[in-house]
Amino acid sequence: MAILEQKIQPELATFANDILEGLTATPKFLPSRYFYDEKGDKLFQQIMELPEYYLTRTEFKILQENKELVLHEMDGQAFDLVELGAGDGYKTKILLRYFLSQKADFQYMPIDISANVLDALSRELHNAWPTLKVEPVEGEYFSALGKIDQLSNRKKLVLFLGSNIGNMTTARAVSFLSQLRGKLRVGDKLLIGFDRKKDPATILAAYNDAQGVTKAFNLNLLHRINKSFDADFDVSSFMHYPTYNPLTGDTKSYLVSTKSQDVQLGLLDKTIHFDAWEAIDMELSKKYDEHSMEWLAQASGFEVVSQLTDDQQYFTDAIWKAI
Ligand code: AVI
Repeated sequence: MAILEQKIQPELATFANDILEGLTATPKFLPSRYFYDEKGDKLFQQIMELPEYYLTRTEFKILQENKELVLHEMDGQAFDLVELGAGDGYKTKILLRYFLSQKADFQYMPIDISANVLDALSRELHNAWPTLKVEPVEGEYFSALGKIDQLSNRKKLVLFLGSNIGNMTTARAVSFLSQLRGKLRVGDKLLIGFDRKKDPATILAAYNDAQGVTKAFNLNLLHRINKSFDADFDVSSFMHYPTYNPLTGDTKSYLVSTKSQDVQLGLLDKTIHFDAWEAIDMELSKKYDEHSMEWLAQASGFEVVSQLTDDQQYFTDAIWKAI
């Protein structure tokens, strides 16, 4: 740790510790939140446009077709539209445009850890809709929700879109949603996106696209480690291997070492050995069904108000009420 502190810039220390923890564990893992550096963000944008990656366009359609119903849930009261993770607002803009057209009394409060992302989004929204009230809140989700509670006592509609909940284990999802519930008042609403169980072939294709963008997205984390810590992962010797378990809905991505090899993490003074065909657990993208969504709502202090879905029942945007 002392060596780490001397050689590693402070902003890289948590990343370094997490990488070391994952690569020295049995089995090995890397946290998928580290996929999103500049290159990873671009690859994820490309993934969302892939023919096989049905999630984004399906959720877009659900919101487009149900925007009236979403606004109706706010009972004509003034409210804060709080979004966890600002992103680029691609799907949120459907709601913003509609709420403005209906002269709804609301302000948009995107929460994000990155001040840059928030600034860019605020500027863009201000140019598009000068009358829209935007109150960005910088920080981790829960501390930001605490700040919001002090800023305003209006009713809340919290958005957690894009099947981001699917990247959490069930235990983590219950803990995350229970903490979120703790920051809300009875009657506040949550609009949350779930990818659903479906033909396993459809799911596997979404995580194993023909152009290899998802593969590059996973491998990019090895490139990132090489750059950040002067490491020497031979990236071409790792294969991308996604799986789907139709019992649990767990869609997992692994990187598998195709040979026995040692990887030096230069700045971390560590050598990591891989046996031939040893895997790194990279990402969980859990798929849900009606029962598991209901169960999750109840386990976290919410009641299901409605389940908005598409014709093929590929995706659900659920509206939950804090009870
Ligand atoms: C961000 N998250 C919901 C995506 C997913 O589907 O789990 C990330 C992703 N991983 C591979 N493709 C997309």
